This record gives sequence, C-alpha cells and structure tokens, in this order.
Amino acid sequence: MPISEPMSPESQAHEALLTARRSMRAYLQQPVPDVLLQSLLIQARRAPSGANLQPGHFLQVRGGLRQALSQALLADWQAGAPEQEDYAYFPRPMPMGLRKRQAASAQALYGALGVARDDRAGRDAQFARNYRFFDAPVALVVTIDQRFGAGGYMDLGMSLYGLQLAAAAAGLGSCAIGALASYPQTVRRVLGLASSEHIVCGLALGWPDPEAAVNRTCTERAALADYFRVLES
Ligand SMILES: Cc1cc2nc3c(=O)[nH]c(=O)nc-3n(C[C@H](O)[C@H](O)[C@H](O)COP(=O)(O)O)c2cc1C
Repeated sequence: MPISEPMSPESQAHEALLTARRSMRAYLQQPVPDVLLQSLLIQARRAPSGANLQPGHFLQVRGGLRQALSQALLADWQAGAPEQEDYAYFPRPMPMGLRKRQAASAQALYGALGVARDDRAGRDAQFARNYRFFDAPVALVVTIDQRFGAGGYMDLGMSLYGLQLAAAAAGLGSCAIGALASYPQTVRRVLGLASSEHIVCGLALGWPDPEAAVNRTCTERAALADYFRVLES
C-alpha cells in the first residue's frame, strides 16, 4: 500500500496499541479471571516459531508458593549472593552506546518515581519490587528447555511480546522481569522444577494502577536510521 493512502481503522488501532504499550509496575488488586488469562496466553501462542516448535513455558505461581518464591528471591538479593545465570542477557562489558540507553531507561523509571540518582535506598526499594512481581494479581515465571539455543529464546520472546500486546489490548498492563533470571537455582528449588528447565524471566500482569507515578515511566526509542538501513548494489 502506498504510504500516501490513509491507514485503515484496523491499522490505526494496531499502531496505537503498539505505540501506547508501556511496562506497568503498579497494579490494582482486582483479580484477573482465569479465563481471561488463558485467552491471552492462547493469543500469545499464535506467535511464529522456527519449525513451529513453540518453545517455552509460562508458569503461573500463586498463593503460598508465590510468597515463598518472593521471600527466597528477596533473601538472595539482600544477601548479595550472585548465582550463575542460565543464559547471558547483556553484553559484558556493556559498550558505551548501550550503557547510555540503559542509563536513560533507569532515569525514566526513577525520574517518574522522583527517586534521585544518589538515593540508593529509593532505588533498592523499587528494585526489590521486581521480586514481588510488583504485587500484580498475576505472577508468571517464563522457562525454556535448556536444549534450546538463541533461536528458541527468540521464538519465546515473540510469544512474550504477544502476551504483552494481547494484555494491553484487553486494558491490562504487564512488565517482564529479567531480574528473576539472576537466581535460577532458587526459582527451580522453590517451584520444584527440573534442572533442565531454564529460567528466562518473570512477568507481572494485571490492571494497571492509573494513580501510580511509576506507571508514568516513559522510555524513548532510537531513531529508525540507528537500526535500519538499505543495502543494495
Ligand atoms: C525480557 C525483559 C526483561 C525485563 N526485565 C525488567 C526487570 O527486571 N525490571 C523492570 O523493572 N523492567 C524490566 N523490563 C522492562 C524494560 O525495562 C522495558 O521494557 C524497557 O525499559 C522499555 O520500556 P517499555 O516497556 O515501557 O516500553 C524488562 C523487559 C524485558 C523485555
């Protein structure tokens, strides 16, 4: 379709959804009906995957087990005892250009909260909330069989984004929680998972609290020219 053609209402709605979705880190205590969560997961699983292998699992953790998981993760984090992660996420060392993006996203988060750069206690208090799944009504742990390589993680990422978009379309908010992947052994021990089940991340999901300052966190994106170019002869 030539770019001068007006966008269809469906296209406009789709663009609005993708543009408006943001990570939500504070939730109302209104429960998410099981049937709604299941419908979002079914939509998310329409994501494409290599050879349609559909890798990964979404585990909903509830009740006392969720409390036990949060307590164990907070204890690990407070003890400052790092674990060997199941997979490498960020480049190490982080190149300067990426470090700037990381700093900008932290600034967006802590700026929305009014937490100053040198306010260690304020930053720690927010970071700790990762391990409580931001008190969201739904806490998910995302896992993948250890035999999958980068391709499997890529496929699972598409499913994860599908879930976040489906949630946003339904008026729900979500936030992926990579911080969970720092303690894979603890997650497996508390949840009784096999050592072959690698811990990818967590996901908080629920009705976003419209009053919460943290939910006004707004991140920027790099310019198109930064990640897209045409190569031709
Ligand atoms: C796989 C993954 C892991 C993430 N882990 C965390 C996390 O541990 N804590 C957190 O507050 N946000 C986390 N985020 C949210 C990112 O910080 C956020 O997506 C990014 O800053 C862009 O902001 P937006 O989602 O609001 O557009 C994660 C996002 C992804 C996709």
